[in-house]
Amino acid sequence: MKGQLLLHLLFQVFWVFVFADVWKVKVEHEMKALVSSCVVLPCSFQYPGTRQPSARTRGIWHKKDKWDDYVYSEDKTLIVDNFKGRTRLVGRLGALNCSLEIDEVKGHDNGPFCFRVELQTSEKDKYSFVDNCVHINMIEQASQPELHSDQAVQEGHPAIFRCSVRHTCPSYQPTLTWNHNGHNMMSFKDIGHGNWEVESILTFTPTKDDDHSDITCTVSYHGVRDKFAAIRPIFVKAEQTDVNHILIPVFCVLGAALLAGGLCFFIGKRCNATTAPTARYSCE
Ligand SMILES: *[C@@H]1O[C@H](CO)[C@@H](O)[C@H](O)[C@H]1NC(C)=O
Repeated sequence: MKGQLLLHLLFQVFWVFVFADVWKVKVEHEMKALVSSCVVLPCSFQYPGTRQPSARTRGIWHKKDKWDDYVYSEDKTLIVDNFKGRTRLVGRLGALNCSLEIDEVKGHDNGPFCFRVELQTSEKDKYSFVDNCVHINMIEQASQPELHSDQAVQEGHPAIFRCSVRHTCPSYQPTLTWNHNGHNMMSFKDIGHGNWEVESILTFTPTKDDDHSDITCTVSYHGVRDKFAAIRPIFVKAEQTDVNHILIPVFCVLGAALLAGGLCFFIGKRCNATTAPTARYSCE
């Protein structure tokens, strides 16, 4: 146990001195983005030496092939025209977070884009992470949501419908709406590698009127005018008729009573028929 602890400690020290004390960036090399919507490129970084506050850290995103083509810079005048007003650093540099948001994504925004950090401590403390850049694959056409439900639902019993979409724009999550009233629960989930999932769960109790109707889940993406819908027909199984609900218990009770009565009658008859005391005793 002690040895394990020591090993663990040694490893940590090793890690701090050998790996942490270097210029390093962590990004997703391939991202998907929906044209005209937004995309957030996750990014975190490290540098040698003492941690600097945000005010002393400058973050820049530039194109890989042209280091002077700034896609993002604190100084807006340095950003290339095509990206002016469309990029924002959503991560806090002081927290070593360099995540970049690109809004109103255009079909030719593919990149690759690289992060560059400049520390205001001395002239030397600058680094462009050109070995770890982000390439964006464009999605021209948004996809409809995925809708899961049972087609056959039971009248009078709560039915659950689940609708979800995946996207890469966590700053403006897509909204999901239903064409049917009910209890509605939305959730947003980070599913890793810059991908997110929005899910809406609709619960309602179907009536006869819902039979052969359509359940529709519609998604609306940030920046995209068209809406996309998934449609499922539902069939409502009628509730078991009231007659059965009453008749079955009634039959049960009646049957049991008849059986008991018959048994008693039969036994009583047998007991009466015999005069032997032993026989009467066994009947009791
Ligand atoms: C970086 O910042 C973004 C936006 O605030 C956040 O979603 C993300 O979780 C942060 N990443 C890390 C590694 O903390």
